[in-house]
Amino acid sequence: MIISLIGYRGTGKTSLAPRLAAHFGWPWIDADVELERRAGRSIRAIFADGGEPEFRRLERTLLAELLAGDRLVLATGGGAILNPDTRRELKAAGPVVWLQASPSVIVERVNRDATTAERRPALTNAATQLQEIESVLAFREPLYRETASIVVDTESLPVDELLDEVLLAIRTAATAGRGRTA
Ligand code: S3P
Repeated sequence: MIISLIGYRGTGKTSLAPRLAAHFGWPWIDADVELERRAGRSIRAIFADGGEPEFRRLERTLLAELLAGDRLVLATGGGAILNPDTRRELKAAGPVVWLQASPSVIVERVNRDATTAERRPALTNAATQLQEIESVLAFREPLYRETASIVVDTESLPVDELLDEVLLAIRTAATAGRGRTA
């Protein structure tokens, strides 16, 4: 089983992943960090050299490999769900947790994060960050929804409470699953 975290930039995937992994005694991987390590280049440099298509190709190759594994907590990049094969493999691998936050909270969090400039090149030509987030999120929301088995609102809860909520949802889903096959 692989527990995957999906959601827009700044929704807390990288904060929650190590805590979930510690609970299960599994490793965790931040797909963006792993992609940069393998490529030997920052995400910004990959976008600058080959544009978003090259980044998506590298991201897809990495996720196909990781999702063929087991016993892992996987923090995906915000756009991972754009690929239909990735969406299918995420769902087949185990629980998929969608971390939600509103565009204004995302702007605030992304600007607080020191790695933003390297990790998060602009995705559109929108005039402001807020406009970019609103338009990208509107497009992606159905894809996050379609892929997720668990949906959590990250705005009101500190990360430890978020962890409890996600663990409860995973346990509940597992019990319901056993009930169905019994
Ligand atoms: C992206 C999100 C980033 C990273 C890349 C593209 C996106 O990941 O994969 O900059 O398309 O939303 P995080 O969600 O971890 O910031």
